[in-house]
Amino acid sequence: MFNTSDYIDLLQQLEQFFLASTEKQPIANPLDPEALRRQLSLELTAEGESLAQLRSHIADYLNYAVKTAHPAYFNQLWGGFNPACFMGDMLTSATNTSMYTYEVAPVATLIEKTLMAKLGELIGFAEPDGQFTTGGSNGNFMALAMARHRAFPTLKHQGMANSSHLIALVSADAHYSFAKAAHLLGIGTDQLWRVPVDRQGRMDISALESLIAKARAQGAQPFFVAGTAGTTVRGAYDPLEAIAAVSQREGLWFHVDGAWGASVLLSPTHRPLMQGVEQADSVVWDAHKMMGMTLMCSILLVKQRGMMLNTFSSEGTDYLFHTVDAEPTDLGPGTMHCGRRVDAVKLWLAWKHLGDRGWAAQIDHYFELAAYAEALINAHDSLELVAPRQSLNLCFQYKPKHASQDPNELTLQIRQALWAKGIAMVNYANVNGKVVFRLVLCNNQTKKEDIAEFFDALVAIAHQMELTDI
Ligand SMILES: Cc1ncc(COP(=O)(O)O)c(C=O)c1O
Repeated sequence: MFNTSDYIDLLQQLEQFFLASTEKQPIANPLDPEALRRQLSLELTAEGESLAQLRSHIADYLNYAVKTAHPAYFNQLWGGFNPACFMGDMLTSATNTSMYTYEVAPVATLIEKTLMAKLGELIGFAEPDGQFTTGGSNGNFMALAMARHRAFPTLKHQGMANSSHLIALVSADAHYSFAKAAHLLGIGTDQLWRVPVDRQGRMDISALESLIAKARAQGAQPFFVAGTAGTTVRGAYDPLEAIAAVSQREGLWFHVDGAWGASVLLSPTHRPLMQGVEQADSVVWDAHKMMGMTLMCSILLVKQRGMMLNTFSSEGTDYLFHTVDAEPTDLGPGTMHCGRRVDAVKLWLAWKHLGDRGWAAQIDHYFELAAYAEALINAHDSLELVAPRQSLNLCFQYKPKHASQDPNELTLQIRQALWAKGIAMVNYANVNGKVVFRLVLCNNQTKKEDIAEFFDALVAIAHQMELTDI
């Protein structure tokens, strides 16, 4: 059935792919979809091919794959390469199973529970409950569903008809998944109120209090507030302790979206950014972001045991779940998923490999890189930070010398050139009406010299594009 020799070629091809990243060969080979289609043999034919013949298709795939482990891959809130995680991914595929029952996933179930206990302890939950989910968006969705279930337990069977006007509150900079969740849960995006943020992008607490008072004055029922630990664009940490105090006083479910930033809990130096998280009702933590696991690797942790089970349990499951214990061994009943991939094993193996100290060193290293990048920006006449840095996101612009040149346009052009030339991938975003580079430092292959080279390349391209007086 399984022949190691069938896979040797693939491993060699992968080695070459990763070698190309370390040698800083072009980070991508960007083509528009039509041009790319012409380079590939995508059609699916009646006759199959041998495993050996698949080699050329794999080569094509790798040729056009973006090198997300390239040291100049700064485009997303994830990147890099973790070898132990990769082993875990292979192990997961080879032992293909689903997380729903202990029966079919015995070791994986115990591993997932071990990780819940470990992550819960880092958060400060006394008896943590939780599960891996299909991503931070899904975790935010499930947290909103639990909050609604706590506020309206009858809604599970009776539907929304008799529910009052529910209001959920998130910051103006919160992730778009909350809007999707409000829509899909029937709360409605109009009932997702956005709390203004301060200059650093953190939730304004007095504005939160005013909005809660406004909702009550309208006869509505505020029931949920989410603080973001590491916002998507600016990397800002909402004041969690202050939000916790408001939510306790007002009887709201307090959720922390730590999809991007919860991993600072691994570092004794940077964990104070999350002060107050222990008072949350639920926390989302994406290990595929700052911890560098392969996508997806996302966890939803809940303070009160049984809350997930109460919210997500359903009828008609006896064909699958054969035990009905108060504290079930099977993970399936306590989540919204049926079949679910094993995402815990890769994180557990990576943890075995790095240990707590290794994680702390990794997070501290990213903060050092971010401070270094900030210093380079501040030292350069033409570069300007557009938002103060709080964590690993640097939002900056290149300031053209000529007043008639639009810095927003120039930012887009420079970004495009860096990508087209295969030098670096860095995303852009809008901050206070300005188009900015959003440089994110969470790639374990990146060193200080890569950052210096990135800025040198960026400035050199900018010089070529800048208007001159001549
Ligand atoms: C703050 C925040 N929350 C949630 C998400 C969604 O996470 P996922 O991509 O795992 O669904 C993101 C994604 O970037 C994010 O930045």
